[in-house]
Amino acid sequence: QGPYATTFTDAETGIVFNSWGISPESTQTRGGFNFGVALPSDGLSTDASEFIGYLECASSDAKGWCGLSLGGPMTNSLLLTAWPHEDEIYTSFRYATGYTMPEVYNGNAKLTQISSRINSTHFTLVFRCENCLQWNQGGQTGGPQTSTGFMLLGWVQAFPSPGNPACPDQITLEQHDNGMGIFPAVLDENAANPSYTAWAAQATKTVT
Ligand code: HEM
Repeated sequence: QGPYATTFTDAETGIVFNSWGISPESTQTRGGFNFGVALPSDGLSTDASEFIGYLECASSDAKGWCGLSLGGPMTNSLLLTAWPHEDEIYTSFRYATGYTMPEVYNGNAKLTQISSRINSTHFTLVFRCENCLQWNQGGQTGGPQTSTGFMLLGWVQAFPSPGNPACPDQITLEQHDNGMGIFPAVLDENAANPSYTAWAAQATKTVT
């Protein structure tokens, strides 16, 4: 996917995102992948600590998982893992110092859901992610600086479902097998929105 954002409005929530996608026809990943970000109204002048995310992942009959790296690489970045299970989308924040099963992230990141959809080919989560852009895992800190108008992001997708899917802290994963990538994400003026506070107030649901 190119670095430049597409502006996209989610029909269900009306939230406006800067988004980056991989088309379903791409050979990089089967089924395509999309990620969108909306920032607080001052997020392009002051480094935001939170965002509203749009995550659309490929899956086959509600199986599989996908992951996002908020720093780009798998290592030393806050990782978000998401998977469908029964009628819900579960998530787990993770952190890795090597290319092995990431540990549970022990900082204060918090995800609340605004909407979720699961169908036979994709699952989609619209979520508020608080304290997600400034991380701290045992003193290792990092995070994108949204005031620079730039974020390095990483993604992965996988076909098998996690083990222990109803216990986010105890999932087991195999190495992702449906593509991965790091992409530069250039934010434009539509990334930050005066409606952010109202949108964020819709994030009331936690799935644990
Ligand atoms: C890349 C292993 C889970 C995100 C890689 C690579 C390996 C690996 C070996 C490099 C592959 C290459 O360059 O050819 C694993 C294993 C996992 C796991 C064994 C679990 C058992 C995760 C999770 C996430 C993630 C949960 C995110 C939520 C990424 C990303 C990349 C990557 C974004 C591409 C960027 C990079 O190379 O650093 N992984 N991974 N991985 N992984 Fe994982």
